[in-house]
This record gives sequence, structure tokens and C-alpha cells, in this order.
Amino acid sequence: MADQPLAFNAFLMNTPSHIHHGQWRHPDAHQVEFNSLRFWVDLARTLEEGLFDAMFFADVTGLYGPPDGRFADNVTEGLQIPSNDPAVLLSALALATEHIGLAYTSNIMQNPPFNFARQISTLDHLTGGRVAWNIVTSTQENAARNFDLAGLLDHDARYDWADEYLDVLYKLWEGSWDEDAVVLDRAGNRYADPAKVHKIHHRSARYSVEGPHLVAPSPQRTPLLFQAGGSARGIAFAARHAEAVFITTPDPDVAREHIATTRRLATELGRRPDDLRFFQGLTFVVGEDQSEVEAKLADYEAYASILGYQLHTALGTLPDGSHLPDDTPLRAIANNGGRGHVDWVSATVDGREPTLGDLVNSRVRRGLVAGTPEQIADVLADYRDAGVDGINVINWRLPGTYEEFTRLLLPTLQRRGLAKLAYAPGTLRHRIFGTDRLPDRHPAARYRGAYAGN
Ligand SMILES: Cc1cc2nc3c(=O)[nH]c(=O)nc-3n(C[C@H](O)[C@H](O)[C@H](O)COP(=O)(O)O)c2cc1C
Repeated sequence: MADQPLAFNAFLMNTPSHIHHGQWRHPDAHQVEFNSLRFWVDLARTLEEGLFDAMFFADVTGLYGPPDGRFADNVTEGLQIPSNDPAVLLSALALATEHIGLAYTSNIMQNPPFNFARQISTLDHLTGGRVAWNIVTSTQENAARNFDLAGLLDHDARYDWADEYLDVLYKLWEGSWDEDAVVLDRAGNRYADPAKVHKIHHRSARYSVEGPHLVAPSPQRTPLLFQAGGSARGIAFAARHAEAVFITTPDPDVAREHIATTRRLATELGRRPDDLRFFQGLTFVVGEDQSEVEAKLADYEAYASILGYQLHTALGTLPDGSHLPDDTPLRAIANNGGRGHVDWVSATVDGREPTLGDLVNSRVRRGLVAGTPEQIADVLADYRDAGVDGINVINWRLPGTYEEFTRLLLPTLQRRGLAKLAYAPGTLRHRIFGTDRLPDRHPAARYRGAYAGN
């Protein structure tokens, strides 16, 4: 919101090569230590020194690329394989940190809703209400095959599935336990009041869940809900459910339009425009003067792996591992994966058909902001003016990206009112929205008190 400091998330993954492929090869790139808990604990503390609002862990449950395809290049590149489970890591980080939000991704295929609700409610207790869930439907055919499916459902049907998945979760998180169910009455021999704990008896096409939820109400009940999806169906889904929406728009004007559309749809569903906050993904290359900026940019580019970016687009790679030519028009390539980023490439090429080469190149430089602290602050001010509430800071080298953010950039951002000066107390939702629980306008709230008597 205009004049408010922006929020900042560190966008991470428990893997050697997340977004900026090839960078792990640099001698100062410690992301290769991702198997070490010490590495993550040290990073979490670095991030708290930089007043980051959340560590946001991406996750996948399979390979990028065509089904039945050669995946040797994914392995060679360390392209999200190996990839460790972020939920396991979060419980350790809960103890090592005090303020920072801990957000992780879990797709709707990988965990039955009963089990997922239990896992994340447990983490919400352990973190004192600092947990967030990035809701994803997955774009990987191989991931679907890891969970008893023949392949991915169609793009829009995956979002329908997510609606159904969330319905079960909302019933467990919001409806199963009354607020005052835990009485802890030692003398009366009553841990909790059975009249205030309810079965949910959920039945739908995919799920049959009796309940009750096995975890008593946690500080936020429903974890803070993150979502990223730029397609029309993805935006409609965000408008219904999301509290924080991740966008990777090419410029502030596209961001403004995207935010306005999503907020308008949300209000049509009875939510308020500021029930949703928008985070733009950006990568910073920051130097104290122009010559340092240029040297760092050259260093970044020297380590970028085009092959890694090509594989990550998951478009144009053939089963034998070869790739379609760069000048292949994007609309000629079948795509049941992500769509928003493909649409946004069109906004970066004027007056001609976007190609596969445009998509790959746009990813190497997508959201890259190189400059001095003042120049970067100018760009952030433009995004804030466009309605962006926060930035998802994408790393290229760990911990260097975030150490430089804190040392070089943060003081300027603070001076210009673009970054906060200290952490506010409370749960993650409280820090963003001023309340621990979802507002009554959110679709999850309709299950509050709905199961009395069950
Ligand atoms: C910032 C950001 C983070 C994302 N993180 C993940 C992730 O961790 N795992 C995943 O499977 N998809 C992830 N996605 C993909 C989205 O969840 C979504 O599937 C994708 O944007 C395609 O949706 P769309 O077709 O509606 O645009 C991410 C997308 C963005 C923009």
C-alpha cells in the first residue's frame, strides 16, 4: 500500500539450483550446502538480521520436462534434483528463529488433506503462528506419476481439485474445534471439552474425511495462505483463497493491471481489496557504484546456465533431451503446465510473435534489477506505486544475495520508507493484516461453528 514499507520474503528452495541456474558452480555459492542444517540455521539468522518477513520455500515432487523424457540434464544441472523436503526443515528453523515467517510449498497431490492439515497445524503451534502455506497444483507430469496418477490433470481441472482440497482443510482448521475446547482442567480430569470438538463428515468427489482434526486450534488456525498463478483460472483461484499472491510481472504497469483484476474478482466474492497482498518476484544485483554493478552483472551472467533455464521452462524440451529451435512460436507448443509466465512474455516483446527463445531469455533476466541502492530503491518505489505490497527476493548465490541486501540495500530502503525498521510482534498474519485469524469474509470462515453437535 502506498507509503507503507514493503514486505520482503527470501525466496528459497532446499536444492542446489532453484531459479538462477548455473550459479551453484561459483566458489562463493553455498547453496550446495543445502543438506546441512547448520547452513539453513545460519541463513535464517542472517535473514532475521535483514528483517526479512518470511523464508519462503518452493518445492516440487518430481522432474521438469516431458513425461518419459531423458532427465540426465536435470541431474547434471542440479535443477531441483536433489530436492529435500522443506516441511522437515521448518520444524528446526522454528527453534532457531524468533520473528521470521516460515512458508513452504505443498502441492495438492502429495499429501491427503487430513494429513497435510495436521502437519501444518503442528508447525503453526511450533512456530508460534509464523507458518504460511504456498498452495500449488504442480505443473509436472512426472510429479503426478509419483502419486498414483497417469499424468497431470488439465490445467483448469487442477484448480478445481485445489478448491476441493481447500474445502476439507478449511473444515478441519476452522470448524472442527471450538475456540475454548481445550480446558486443561487438572482437578476435574478434563483435558478438553468433548462437546466442543467436532467431526466434519466431509464427502466429495475425491475425499472422504470424518475428522475431527487431530490438532487443537493453533495461533493462526488456517496458516497464512500464499498462492502464485497468473492464468485466468489461477487469478480466479487467488481471488477466492489467497492472502499473499506471488507475481512475476515484467514491469509495474503489468503488475498494476494484474493486481486490479485480482482485487476486483475478490470483491465480487465478498472479500475486501486489502484482504490480498501482492508480492513481486525480483532478483537484485547491487553495487555501490556503476562499475561495481557492471562487474557483478558480468559475474552473474558468466555463471548463468542457459540449459538450466531452458529445462526449467519445461517447454520445448523433447523426450530425447533435444530442444526445439529458439525461434519456435510459443503458441505452437502444447502447454499443460504453467501459463501466466508464458502470457507475460508477450508483454515484453512488442509487435511480434513471442518465441521459445524469448521465454528462456526472459527467465535469465526476468525481474533482474541491477543498480546502486538508490537506483534499486527507485524501481521498488515504482512497484509500490503500482500497488505491490512486498517483494519476493530471489537469490542467486547463498548467503551472498541476502548479505548484500542487508549490508548494501536495506539502509537506503529504510531511509526512503521502503523497508521497515524493526519487526512487529505477533503471528505472521497479525503482522501483515493486524489479525491472527482469517477475516469472516474469507470462504474458510463459513465453517466456524458449523459442526456443533457432531
Ligand atoms: C513466485 C512463485 C513461486 C512458485 N512456487 C512453486 C513451487 O514451489 N512449486 C510449484 O510446483 N509451483 C510453483 N509455482 C508455480 C505456480 O504455483 C503455478 O503453478 C504457476 O504459476 C502456473 O499457474 P498459472 O498457470 O495459473 O499461471 C510458483 C510460481 C511463482 C510465480
